[in-house]
Amino acid sequence: MCMECPQGAQASHTNVMLHLKINCPDDFRIAAKSWAGVHRVFMWTPVINKTSSAQMGWTNVFEDLEDQVAVITGGARGLGLSMARALAKWRAKIALLDVLADVDDSAGTVQREFEVECLGVVADVTDDRSVAAAFAEVGRTLGSPSILINAAGITVWEDSIDVSKESWQRVIDINLTGTFLCCQALARACTAASKGGVIVNVSSMSARVVNLPQHQASYHASKAGVEMLTKALAVEWAPIGIRVNAIAPGYMLSEMTRQFTTANPDLAERWRNMIPAGRMGEPADLEALVVLLCSARSSYLLGQSIVIDGAYTAV
Ligand SMILES: NC(=O)c1ccc[n+]([C@@H]2O[C@H](COP(=O)([O-])OP(=O)(O)OC[C@H]3O[C@@H](n4cnc5c(N)ncnc54)[C@H](O)[C@@H]3O)[C@@H](O)[C@H]2O)c1
Repeated sequence: MCMECPQGAQASHTNVMLHLKINCPDDFRIAAKSWAGVHRVFMWTPVINKTSSAQMGWTNVFEDLEDQVAVITGGARGLGLSMARALAKWRAKIALLDVLADVDDSAGTVQREFEVECLGVVADVTDDRSVAAAFAEVGRTLGSPSILINAAGITVWEDSIDVSKESWQRVIDINLTGTFLCCQALARACTAASKGGVIVNVSSMSARVVNLPQHQASYHASKAGVEMLTKALAVEWAPIGIRVNAIAPGYMLSEMTRQFTTANPDLAERWRNMIPAGRMGEPADLEALVVLLCSARSSYLLGQSIVIDGAYTAV
């Protein structure tokens, strides 16, 4: 039954959605949005039956994120910033790390929007001393971090026969070594604070399939490395309560892809034609997944990389 208005409705999905659409437009909007998300059942259920869902502990499903300190590398913009906003919505404290000085403005925007403590730190993930200093600043300002999202990354479009050693090395240093150094810093912080933690590494579908038409061998190799690093650390750190997973997005709209689509006007259309979902991903498409992975709701989910690509890799 719908508990929200006097008419009531039978609690089959179709009936309740129709009922809400007619009688409770606001609830219908929320229910429909949730239904389309990853957490369909338990995020949708509270809307139609608050009493029983509260009894079953399904209200505020990700409230365990509140007041946790989350570090997001590459957080000045793009996917990192979007994932940071998702955690801020659930009232986590946010530390954005980035080489870009814009990181301060991004932190200020998140803080104003969600009224949570938020810090921007200029740091280079390839430099272990810079990473250690950044984590120390986070600890002093927000408290000991327990969540890390490794979103800092770059890519190049270069023919492998021409690529310089420096260019190859830079991609590996940022995408793979930088990810490792930040994982290590989070594990050290958690161990020092005698608590567990959660890491979400941002891999890519490019860890599994070869992108076309662009040539990105260093990117493919770096992201394949991130996937195996994720498994290795998940196994090594499970006994100390640090849960490590990855997400592997497909083509997403961000500066990273815009640098190619701006220079090659037909490229976006060519990519779109290869994506069964019919569109490139928006940064916000990652939000629900990353919140689930960071929450204790997924405490038995570790050592996995979850592809989120509009079914690109399914065909
Ligand atoms: N956009 C996509 O289609 C796509 C798809 C799959 C995976 N990814 C991955 O998602 C992550 C985020 O990418 P995005 O699309 O938001 O790109 P983006 O270029 O908008 O953001 C990347 C961020 O990383 C930061 N960064 C780069 N080098 C750094 C360093 N040494 N230290 C600290 N920060 C550094 C950049 O300044 C930037 O803010 C990357 O790891 C990328 O490989 C992106």
